Amino acid sequence: MDFNLSEEHLMIRDAAREFAQTELLPEVIERDNKQEFPQELVKKMGDLGFMGIMVDPKYGGSGMDAVSYVLIMEELSKIDASASVMVSVNNSLVCYGLEAFGTEEQKQKYLTKLATGESIGAFCLSEPEAGSDATSQKTTAIDQGDHYLLNGTKNWITNGGRSDFYLVIAQTDKEKGHRGINAFIIEKGMEGFHIGPKEDKLGIRGSDTHTLQFNDVKVPKENRIGDDGFGFKFAMKTLSGGRIGIAAQALGIASGAYELALKYSKERKAFGTEIANHQAIAFKLADMYTDIEAARMLVMKAAWDKDQGNNYDMSSAMAKLKASDVAMKHTVEAVQIHGGNGFVKEYHVERLMRDAKITQIYEGTSEIQKIVISRGVLRD
Ligand code: CAA
Repeated sequence: MDFNLSEEHLMIRDAAREFAQTELLPEVIERDNKQEFPQELVKKMGDLGFMGIMVDPKYGGSGMDAVSYVLIMEELSKIDASASVMVSVNNSLVCYGLEAFGTEEQKQKYLTKLATGESIGAFCLSEPEAGSDATSQKTTAIDQGDHYLLNGTKNWITNGGRSDFYLVIAQTDKEKGHRGINAFIIEKGMEGFHIGPKEDKLGIRGSDTHTLQFNDVKVPKENRIGDDGFGFKFAMKTLSGGRIGIAAQALGIASGAYELALKYSKERKAFGTEIANHQAIAFKLADMYTDIEAARMLVMKAAWDKDQGNNYDMSSAMAKLKASDVAMKHTVEAVQIHGGNGFVKEYHVERLMRDAKITQIYEGTSEIQKIVISRGVLRD
């Protein structure tokens, strides 16, 4: 067993760290306030290969492994979790879904653009009445011979406004339950496809989240992903990898908050000494470091499982469950260590605390991760 990162992994981590420090940090507070993220920064992430990290270079990707993906996600998330969720959704829900299950034509037409960052993608599963209960899809895609007719509403869609391509899950045959669900590629601008207003969110405010409406959208048959009825399994398989990305995001939020708290506690003085010299603060730092290391082990194990070709449904669920709890708990502690300064924006920890919350919710709530884990435990 070797816990060391390879030279190549260290270089990838350092490149992501450098990008986050020089390009993401300077205006992160303004982006959070204004709820925006400039396309120019997305392009820069694309130029660095961050939008198609694990995609085969023949489709424009970087051809890196899942461990590299985790390292990049952690570094971006330490500074700007809005940037990293765009990277995560594009990489592990959209690019992975197309590369693993799309046709060669779909890969040439869509994946090549998504992997380079020329285009952005969104993954549309959640609905007003189908969040955790993902088989209860109300969006319908009725087979009309040479095309499907898509109708329905999708909620809380990350990259919902800025995407060019959308992977949409819909019910084709209600009688067949989850075996009658399909996944489709929808292009922005298709007639009947409407993007609703942007959500005003607690955290990851730079990323855009929208409701989407589909009114009689004609979807060509060749835009279906996989065999008829594969859509629910497509969503589940894709989300297993997505959960590694969100676990790495949570890890980055936690370690970003920890690094700020450590620095602050060595500078801030109270009762005649730096606050790190008070056991109340030193013990908080010890707990933070220990929990973050434990979360890192689970996140890396899930990425390693994926790279080895092992099943990673359980390891990704465990990584997300643990890392998101650690992120929530220790961003609150980081604010506490900063005292009054932690409550104001310029110290960054209040934003990390707000950003942490969503990691316990999206791509499967913590309760859903426990369903996946407990079913695995009981099956084995
Ligand atoms: N891989 C392959 N197949 C899978 C699978 C997996 N990981 N998990 C389930 N399946 C299959 C099952 O084998 C079953 O198929 P068969 O009947 O043919 O055997 C089928 O899918 C249905 O499975 P279940 O009976 O287990 O279904 P369920 O209704 O009990 O639900 C669940 C299971 C795990 C709770 C699932 O509904 C789930 O993961 N829900 C959460 C959904 C979610 O993560 N939503 C997040 C939205 S996306 C998002 O947040 C993106 C973003 O923008 C950031």
